[in-house]
Parts: sequence; C-alpha cells; structure tokens
Amino acid sequence: MEKIDPWGVSQIKNYQAMREQFGIDQFNFNLEGNRFSERSLLVGHRDFQLIKRAMERKEKFYAMTGLMPSGEMHLGNKAVMEMMIYFQRKGAELHIAVADLESYVTRDVDLESAKNIAIENFLLNYIAMGLKPCNFYFQSESFRIQKFANVLSKEVNMSEMKAIYGFEDSKKMLEINSPLIQASDILSPQIYGEPAPTIVPVGADQDPHIRLTRDISKRFSSLRIQDSKGTRISIGGKADAELAFSAAEKIMKKHGLAQITKNSKYRTLESPGRPSDQDAFNLDLVREEREFNPLATVPPSSAILRLETGIKGGKMSKSVPDSTISLNETPQEAGKKIMKALTGGRESVEEQKKLGGNPYNCPVFELYMYHLSESAADLKKVENECLSGTRLCGGCKKEASELMGEMLTSLKEKRESSRHLVKEFMDFGSK
Ligand code: TRP
Ligand code: SF4
Repeated sequence: MEKIDPWGVSQIKNYQAMREQFGIDQFNFNLEGNRFSERSLLVGHRDFQLIKRAMERKEKFYAMTGLMPSGEMHLGNKAVMEMMIYFQRKGAELHIAVADLESYVTRDVDLESAKNIAIENFLLNYIAMGLKPCNFYFQSESFRIQKFANVLSKEVNMSEMKAIYGFEDSKKMLEINSPLIQASDILSPQIYGEPAPTIVPVGADQDPHIRLTRDISKRFSSLRIQDSKGTRISIGGKADAELAFSAAEKIMKKHGLAQITKNSKYRTLESPGRPSDQDAFNLDLVREEREFNPLATVPPSSAILRLETGIKGGKMSKSVPDSTISLNETPQEAGKKIMKALTGGRESVEEQKKLGGNPYNCPVFELYMYHLSESAADLKKVENECLSGTRLCGGCKKEASELMGEMLTSLKEKRESSRHLVKEFMDFGSK
C-alpha cells in the first residue's frame, strides 16, 4: 500500500500500485512539444481526455495550480509550472492561487512575508519561464474563494477528512480547512465563470486533493450519471424534479438516446442506449444543469507528474537539505550540490568503463531528464554514453553543473527584466 501524505516527505515507489489503489489511469496521451509527456514523466491522470479534447477542438478549458509561499522556488516546483505554461500556450485560461493561508498554518509564514515570497521567489521565476498574464491571486485576499470554500464545506464532514488525510484531533482548524480552500481554488473558475474542463497538473503526492475536489464537485451536481448498461441519470439533492428532468431529457435526445423512461418516485431517467460520445454528453449535461444549478461543475482533471528524486537520493523537497536546487541560487552553489550528488555509477572507473552506469537509478540523469536536456536527442546521448561506459560520473556531473549554471543565469537575467510585468499579473481580472 502506498501512503500519500501531501505535506509529508514520503516517496512513491511503485506508480502502478498507486494507480490501482487510487483509481488513477495510466497517462497514454502524446502531448507534442511537452517534454514530460515525451519522456514518460507523466505517471497518471484523471479525465485527461477532456483536456485533450478541448485542446484539439480549441474549446474553453481552465488550468489551475497553487503555490506554497514558503522558502524559495526549487526544481521540484518547476515541472508543474512548465506544464501550466504549456497549457496556457494551448489555449487554457490560467488561475494561480498563492496558498498563503495554507503556508501560514503549515509553515508558519505570516501573510505579509508570504506576499513578498510569492512575488520575488515564485511569480518572477514564472514570468522568466514564459508565463503570460493570468489570474494570480492570494487566498487570504480573495473574498470569492473564501466564500465558496465555506459553501462547499457544508458537504464535507470530519470523518471524510480523516479518511483522506489522517488528520488527528490536534490539527489546527485552518490546517483542516486548507484542502477545502484549495478545492475552492480549483472549482472557482467554473463557479464564477462558465463550467468547463479544468486541468490541475500535480506532483503524485498531491492526488488526494484532486480526489477530494472531484468528489465535492459531484456532490453539488443534480444530474448524476449512474452505473448502468445503458444510460441512467438520477436527480440528486434538492433540485426541482421537473426542471432537472427536462434538462436531462433534452441532452439525452440531443445525443440520440431513445426510449427514455422517467421514474418520478426514484427520480431517475433511463434509456437502454449509450451516447456515442460519452464525454460530450457529460459536458453537455453539466452545461445544461447550470441553467438551474449555479454550483454545477465539471469534476477537475489531473495530469500527474512523477516525483523527481532528491539530488542525494530520497525525496526532493524544500524540507530536505541539499535535496534540491533553488531557482534563485548561484551557479556556484548549485554546482557544488551536483558534484556531491548520488549517481548510478559503479564502484570503480574500470568497472564502469566495462559495464556502463545505471542512468535509470541516478539523480543526475534525472536532472538531465527534467531540466537540462533540451532535446530528446541530447537526452538519448547521455543515456547511451552512460550505458556503454563511455561517460563517467565525474564528467557527467561537471557537464550537468555547467548546464544548470547556464539555466540559472538565464533565469536570473529574465527575472530582472520581468519586474515591470508583475503589476499586470496582480491586476489581472477577477482574483
Ligand atoms: N497545496 C498546494 C501545495 O502544497 C498549493 C495549492 C493551493 C494548490 N491551491 C491549489 C495546488 C490548487 C493545486 C491547485 O503546493
Ligand atoms: Fe548517472 Fe551520469 Fe554516472 Fe550515468 S554517468 S550514472 S548518468 S552520473
């Protein structure tokens, strides 16, 4: 059993087991021009087909993430932002929450410092990486996020929070609330805008949040598709039965479903057939429900990133010293860490020349995979040279240090020339 604690330092060893245990699908999509997809670093998804579809048809979709404004932005945070920028280029409307309420309670960062950290350490790096203006807001300052967090809290009870997060009675109330504020972050673009698919790119340790948010989304919907050979929709909650029936019937007919039977007592509608395009049917149903239910949302989709290994092995995390590199670090500091990295090398140089190294169990190779190799060909070269024994760890680490240094220097230059753009993000749209 994999135990996943979004705030802890546990590692995930077996992604297949994780998928099975939590009902996550394998990521089999090819995202052209996306290095994480091309390098098999996406280890799972929930309903990603909705996002693929929206990208292909140029239909509306949202991309959402949040950042914890504590410490500096490091390599582990970079992958999620690259995914966000990828989706922005593919047409997504972006929302980025500064989880300052969460870091206030879990990391003891006061709200004033959080503001400074969020801008200096995170937003400037995002812009340097290529992020264009989008809704960048602070949880503590957003009335509408807090309002909806309260509204959705009505449908979540303590035993559920304990089952998902293992919360003990000693937990502070704000800590218990933070996943609910986060669920509000994720659903709010739809609540305050139109319903549409929402992609949340996450590290594998953040999946519990997505599960909770998807459940909450479903709880607030009145037209619920149930398991059945054909199509069966039940009218949930307090929805006005007549309104709901006619909305569901309209969409069933639109999708060619015939012989619809209505059961007023059990509040269900049934047809023996199935829509030929199930995803389109589900989306239409939510959109139609919006006409009478302002809280109808499409359950958010996720793309799950494999967790990067720390430079010295173990988890990569801000809270594990020297396990990662901050984007605001100097090339010298970063280089020192890389030279001390754990590798997949052999006991001796002779042995490595003869047998080759093991790039598949090497944090340095992961640096190339996640950050340093620009092209697939560059990465293949490192891999092949390592396997054949022509590449030795000393030189390999030195090359990695140099590439990392170039990356950090270029980010620094871009951060400095991006400062004037910060205001545009802070003033953007709705919050
Ligand atoms: N809890 C996230 C973290 O620890 C931050 C976060 C807040 C978030 N709101 C979000 C992530 C919404 C994804 C979506 O980094
Ligand atoms: Fe890792 Fe490079 Fe050594 Fe291969 S040569 S094991 S990739 S450090």
